[in-house]
Amino acid sequence: MLIFRSIKHIRSQLQPHHERGQRVSLVPTMGNLHGGHISLIEQAKAQSDIVVCSIFVNSLQFALTEEWDQYPRTFETDCQKLRAIGCDYLFAPDDGEMYPNGLATQSRVVCPSFTDILCGRSRPGHFEGVTTVVSKLFNIIQPDESVFGLKDFQQISVIRRMVEDMCLPIKIVGGAICREPDGLAMSSRNVFIRSYERPKVTVLKESLFEVGQSLAEGDKDFCGLERHASKRIKQLGFEVDYISVRNSLTLEEAAINDRDLIVLGAMFTKSARLIDNFIIRLDNKSRDDSEEKK
Ligand code: PAF
Repeated sequence: MLIFRSIKHIRSQLQPHHERGQRVSLVPTMGNLHGGHISLIEQAKAQSDIVVCSIFVNSLQFALTEEWDQYPRTFETDCQKLRAIGCDYLFAPDDGEMYPNGLATQSRVVCPSFTDILCGRSRPGHFEGVTTVVSKLFNIIQPDESVFGLKDFQQISVIRRMVEDMCLPIKIVGGAICREPDGLAMSSRNVFIRSYERPKVTVLKESLFEVGQSLAEGDKDFCGLERHASKRIKQLGFEVDYISVRNSLTLEEAAINDRDLIVLGAMFTKSARLIDNFIIRLDNKSRDDSEEKK
């Protein structure tokens, strides 16, 4: 695997691949790679000729109160994992390369859809940071497709909308949520969970799945289901950010006749913010999160 730090060099490396018409796939990450990331790379490999992974801890998507400097950085281990799986290229720029004029005057890509609800409400500016860095990565790599985890369902919805709005010829692919043996969704932030809280944090996934089951069985009392799930989580001592039943295509609050549903949730432990979701398509009964959003 070749590692590139500069935009100029990764571009000239990719140029012949583009010219030969090879399919290039990009998997953007912030590093601290876990099984979920590896499955995204595997998915990218299966669907393309050349796979580029990027590692960049993007300060623009962290709020002032969030710990950008404490985000886990495990570059050497990440490289070993990427080599083992046969990733072709790693693009790992530093801040100066990505934001040479500083953050304050950096042009932004703003996607007003979906960004002030759910995670966007408690993380103002977060999605603007994501859409800005992802569009820069798209411009640098010029991928034919890009793979994002479905755990960050709101993020992939925003990116799909940005790609559509900006007429970018890039296919956005969703990768299944990968889970630990007890069901906890894999996340780089799981390292922040305190050991005494670890056995209890699966309550997020369990509550969302319970809501999903009730929806699949025809329960339409969305608010009641959300309240019940929140109560279950709070009873274990966690703070609930939101539990919300939405239309999975529009991310609007679910309406009685919606068939494509998703229940999304976020909660705070003492030192981590965890998110998860469960997708339900009523026509086909309940489906699990391993299926890509069509
Ligand atoms: O999901 C992430 O890790 C980040 O939000 C992304 C897409 C790499 C942008 O920085």
